[in-house]
Amino acid sequence: MSFEKERDYQRCRARIEALCEGGDDQIAKMASIVGVLHNEMNNFFWTGFYRVIEERLVIGPYQGTVGCLSIEIGKGVCGTAAAMGETQVVEDVHDFPGHIACDERSKSEIVVPVTDESGALIAVLDVDSMEKGAFDEIDRECLERILAHVFGGR
Ligand code: SME
Repeated sequence: MSFEKERDYQRCRARIEALCEGGDDQIAKMASIVGVLHNEMNNFFWTGFYRVIEERLVIGPYQGTVGCLSIEIGKGVCGTAAAMGETQVVEDVHDFPGHIACDERSKSEIVVPVTDESGALIAVLDVDSMEKGAFDEIDRECLERILAHVFGGR
């Protein structure tokens, strides 16, 4: 299982790096990342970015059912990841205080902060699964690595 996941991430990383090579438009790169991950990874029920705009998280490129338009920094899983600057891996969304339910079929999620070369927070990547406990350290490492490569952050 974890071997397959790592192999799937390796394939996604190669595709994403090739697609984003030389690109300088952040939204275009976000759309490409979502397009690859959502279609190639198992159990990715909702995959998308919330961009930091005027100190809020505003919906960016995504695939899946309709997401919330904007989220306050500090609120929900996305807002917590943005406020803390740290990836949040949530085994069961019902156990996360203040979780924002855009689609009640989401059972677990991972939210990764996205920084640029200067270290500024530009977005978060949010992935939801219909299965409990779908995300672990492998997802954290692989997603952080892809995002750091594409956007130049840490
Ligand atoms: N679950 C998120 C809200 C965004 S949706 O899942 C698309 C949260 O609590 O931050």
